[in-house]
Amino acid sequence: MPRSIEAPKTDGQLPPPVKSSPTFSPSDVTVLFVLGGPGAGKGTQCANLVKKYGFTHLSAGDLLRAEQERPGSQFGDLIRDYIKNGLIVPMEVTIQLLENAMTEALQKSGSSKGRFLIDGFPRKLDQAHKFEESVCTAKMVLFFDCPEKVMEERLLERGKTSGRADDNAESIRKRFRTFIETSMPVVDYYEKQGKVVKVDATPSPDDVFIKTQKHLTERLGKEF
Ligand code: C5P
Ligand code: MG
Repeated sequence: MPRSIEAPKTDGQLPPPVKSSPTFSPSDVTVLFVLGGPGAGKGTQCANLVKKYGFTHLSAGDLLRAEQERPGSQFGDLIRDYIKNGLIVPMEVTIQLLENAMTEALQKSGSSKGRFLIDGFPRKLDQAHKFEESVCTAKMVLFFDCPEKVMEERLLERGKTSGRADDNAESIRKRFRTFIETSMPVVDYYEKQGKVVKVDATPSPDDVFIKTQKHLTERLGKEF
């Protein structure tokens, strides 16, 4: 059944209660945000981490693209427009999709405990604040740092087969701009809290994965 991201119905009576605490407690749910410019290799490294360590991987971009394609979605056109222009979709949409996906993953696993890699989120400071206030606080941020030139080459290469509406030269330019202006402040914000683990994402995927594991072990211990 298609998922709806609408707020619960209240029969026209009262508005939904204002949440006073996050949906998930960090003692049950571990959240690692995975950030980096477009083409830095977030998705590739998340796939490696899932395979080896059993995280649940949620890509904000993938969730938005799925919602865009979902028949009956009231947000399809809006999402399409934002993605094509490399802009950040209004946070309510993305946060609700993430919360739904987390709830679904926990239900499926039959446990209240889970470990999530949240990839490509938060891309804007308001998303960071709202998510931590209403969904779950984040344990740390894994930041894949990569020069624009390298990311551009990767995206143009991926664009040959990805079918993505934003893997073209013009959209890529806009995405880089959004990354610098809007998303880097999020990395800086978490850096000030000492939560960022930065990995040089220029080398091959295998090399980046080795470094990622090393940094994560240093930060979280061998059993992460
Ligand atoms: O992470 P990915 O490259 O798949 O994201 C594609 C696009 O989805 C972004 O350029 C942006 O338009 C949208 N997006 C967003 N907010 C997020 C993640 C992605 O608006 N947190
Ligand atoms: Mg991705």
